[in-house]
Amino acid sequence: MFEKITDKLPEILKPWTPYLLLVLTIFIIFQKYGGSHIQPWFMATIYIPWTSIHHDSVKEFQRKHFEKIKNHKSADPELRKKGILRILEIGPGPGYNFEFYPSKSQLSVVEVNPFFEKQFFEKQADHPHIKMDRFIVGFAENMKDVPDNSVDIVVSSFVLCSVRSVEGALKEVHRVLVPGGKYYYFEHIRDYKYAWVRFLQHLYTYTFYDLLFGCNLNRVTNQIIEANKWRFSKIDQKLITTPMKKRYYPFYICVTPAVVGIAEK
Ligand SMILES: C[S@@+](CC[C@H](N)C(=O)[O-])C[C@H]1O[C@@H](n2cnc3c(N)ncnc32)[C@H](O)[C@@H]1O
Repeated sequence: MFEKITDKLPEILKPWTPYLLLVLTIFIIFQKYGGSHIQPWFMATIYIPWTSIHHDSVKEFQRKHFEKIKNHKSADPELRKKGILRILEIGPGPGYNFEFYPSKSQLSVVEVNPFFEKQFFEKQADHPHIKMDRFIVGFAENMKDVPDNSVDIVVSSFVLCSVRSVEGALKEVHRVLVPGGKYYYFEHIRDYKYAWVRFLQHLYTYTFYDLLFGCNLNRVTNQIIEANKWRFSKIDQKLITTPMKKRYYPFYICVTPAVVGIAEK
């Protein structure tokens, strides 16, 4: 039995060889030359455009969640009269979430990777109904340029896996929201069903994933949010499994378990 598997191993690995070689080469470059500039550039120009296939497979799930934002009214009486909603997105990357925002949204973003700025504004051109307020290069855990109680809605998708401190980001989200404001999140998490998926998530995270993509596949974001429930007046979250493209199964299986929720200040 064992011999049969080892006989077949080259055949099984063959289609993956180019990907494995690519990952190995990039890994060696990052180890040798440090990640401070190369990693953010790599994320913005190679990795995230490649993951647009993932975005395509989850976008209907995201639409269903984020479309509830349109029922929200601004806490500012003047803006409410004009139908304007102040939205702050953390970690928008190239701006995949533009398509989910209601018309007359007034959007600010806090993005740690400056290499995304160009792609983000290119994408904004396709969504003229959204008024861009500010693109702030900075950390979600320290949004010093965003005043207290100043936004109606905060949004994040696939970001809390990368922040240095989920708790720090939640603290900041709470600070910038107006009372009654809502935080909409859609985040991949450590698998809650299968041990073998958790094994892959740990394996990838500790070998190359964190270094190359700055992402912790095995983070228990749902539990960290639960533990921070006391910050908010209400949290409503559920665990889901998102669909994926079969072709990239061994990678995408790790980002299919997700937590979807709304936290209200
Ligand atoms: C996997 S991408 C997700 C991009 C986009 N939100 C989406 O749904 O596809 C993670 C994004 O979070 C950003 N990011 C990582 N850590 C961050 C932090 N501490 N503060 C703000 N943005 C951060 C990354 O630069 C990247 O744009």
